[in-house]
Amino acid sequence: MEVTVRIKRYDPEKDGEPWWGEYKVEVDETDRVLDALHYIKWYQDGTLTFRRSCGHGICGSDAMRINGYNRLACKVLIRDVAPVITVEPLLGLPVIKDLVVDMEPFFAHYRAVMPWLINDEPPPPRERLQSPEERELFDDTTKCILCAACTTSCPAFWLRGEYVGPAAIVQAHRFIFDSRDRGAVQRLEILNAPDGVWRCRTIFNCTNACPREIEITKAIAEVKKALIFSRL
Ligand code: SF4
Ligand code: F3S
Ligand code: FES
Repeated sequence: MEVTVRIKRYDPEKDGEPWWGEYKVEVDETDRVLDALHYIKWYQDGTLTFRRSCGHGICGSDAMRINGYNRLACKVLIRDVAPVITVEPLLGLPVIKDLVVDMEPFFAHYRAVMPWLINDEPPPPRERLQSPEERELFDDTTKCILCAACTTSCPAFWLRGEYVGPAAIVQAHRFIFDSRDRGAVQRLEILNAPDGVWRCRTIFNCTNACPREIEITKAIAEVKKALIFSRL
């Protein structure tokens, strides 16, 4: 089948403004949007720039706006978005070129919540044990691949880039509710700041955008509840 792919293009070295490139591509309906982008880059316009690595929904590098929704290009089937496919870079982060955005502001928020195990107690002779019930409390938020689809679909983040954003809260949740970790109070203090978790207005765009189907808004609500009961 033939599809039309409209791509928002921008090269800061030669374009004053972004512009729309339009490409006709012959694809199978079970191809993914990433296949169409590859076809354009390899056979029609080698200057088209986008990120991708695994091609199978694991690395999180090819999040972009497809027909107005944040998606991984490698997970969207052509038949679900044809015949006209509009592809844009993620919103809320500076565009470096075409579909590539600067992820540094996103990763700065990620680092701010200390996304690593904090525990200075002497380690036990073997592993730090945890029951299945304790593990279940944060199982969902371990699935995050840091694609940024959630944070860059959040109107609160578009309005104010200083908002830590749903992805960082997901990462904080993963450790706050881990029985082996001792840094929960520190992370809750960070998330209690003016640009922390309270900027979330429960809009749910993040949950709808997540390619890992993480219940992000629920995780955010659990962090808010923990803050209320921690009396910080
Ligand atoms: Fe991506 Fe989901 Fe992680 Fe957000 S929570 S960064 S959408 S995987
Ligand atoms: Fe934004 Fe998700 Fe909250 S879209 S406002 S972080 S529920
Ligand atoms: Fe790795 Fe799509 S290319 S998630």
